[in-house]
Amino acid sequence: MTNLQPAFPDGFLWGAATSAHQTEGNNTNSNWWHLETAPNSPFQERSGAAVDSYHRYPEDMRLLAEAGLDAYRFSIEWARIEPAPGEFDQQELAHYRAMIDTAFGLGLTPVVTLHHFTTPMWFAQRGGWGSSDAAARFAAYVTEVSGITADVPWICTINEPNMIALLTGLPERASNAERERSSLDSRPIADFALPTPSDAVTRVLSDAHRRAVDILHATTDAKIGWTVSAQGFEAEPGAERALAEVKWAWEDRYLEVSRDDDFVGVQSYTTRKIGRDGPQAYSPAEQQTMTGWPFRPDAVGLSIRNAWDITGGTAILVTENGIATADDRDRIEYTTGALASIEAAVRDGIDVRGYLHWSALDNFEWGEWGPTFGLIAVNRETFERSPRPSLAWLGDQARASRTPTVRQLLESAETK
Ligand code: BGC
Repeated sequence: MTNLQPAFPDGFLWGAATSAHQTEGNNTNSNWWHLETAPNSPFQERSGAAVDSYHRYPEDMRLLAEAGLDAYRFSIEWARIEPAPGEFDQQELAHYRAMIDTAFGLGLTPVVTLHHFTTPMWFAQRGGWGSSDAAARFAAYVTEVSGITADVPWICTINEPNMIALLTGLPERASNAERERSSLDSRPIADFALPTPSDAVTRVLSDAHRRAVDILHATTDAKIGWTVSAQGFEAEPGAERALAEVKWAWEDRYLEVSRDDDFVGVQSYTTRKIGRDGPQAYSPAEQQTMTGWPFRPDAVGLSIRNAWDITGGTAILVTENGIATADDRDRIEYTTGALASIEAAVRDGIDVRGYLHWSALDNFEWGEWGPTFGLIAVNRETFERSPRPSLAWLGDQARASRTPTVRQLLESAETK
């Protein structure tokens, strides 16, 4: 029998996400800017002026609101707020406060991330997340930022701590791999066996998160959590033990940190097979999207179920989900499947509070501009924004989920 009840609960957030470094442009005080511009940079391309969202954010947000979305996730750039240790830039704080006000003014719920991969250059030079005072440094930044976030309803402290812990040391590993490559095999560098996330860095990040949660809880009623990169791991026959080990080291230990949080952000794009030797590289046939990842709309449903299981029932916000494709019809097909897998999880009783598509705009994909994830295309010469059909389509899904069903209208008429 068809289930006529809408799956998504009242207040479910429908929105899109970005991060500062990937969209704003000229993030010159950050570690990534430095890496991109270094003479022996490991990256193919630079962020440069990005898509100039530092100046054009009102237009970005207006396009989302006009399409029918009601939430926008963006990040505050630590490198701008604290360009030198202990020096906080009041103008930059005012800039981000203006972004929050603009979102509210357009009817968008701001979902604010405090740290999305980039750090101030000075922080990186002092050892980054590997240094003993890293958590205290982050806490000092969060204390300053808490002055502008009192009325923000959702705050993500740290984006993908598991990727941060994994990327620590990756540039060195990548250059070694480049050197050894011919003797190894012909897999692309992106698929060269990734290291396990660093244990020491994970502990520092968890400490930094806990400190941020305490600071913010004292100043706001916001829901506070961090966001975890979900891998959608699947065991090959006989690899169940390897799966359990890898899943814990890459993902579940970060979900465990969220057990006592207000929510956990789930960020899912695809799945990855685990063989007896660990994570498997994608075969050419599996590399179906512009990032070389398999087309797996069901991944987000699997990831939500895993997060619910491991956290023991912490509320979930899908803080990122999307696809890099040159064909917007693929984006709609992918997202249709993703929403169906979320809806099935909600019907099974899992508490999912919203869906934030990655990404609002095409943006700088950490070293390259090729993969296009945006609901909105951007001309990088003129910065002109061109909404793709998927933006209107996602807005329609949001509107439809807010519209009461015939059954609900009848029920409310009966109770009057
Ligand atoms: C990150 C984004 C990134 C996206 C697609 C996530 O890991 O948070 O910054 O652009 O995945 O690769």
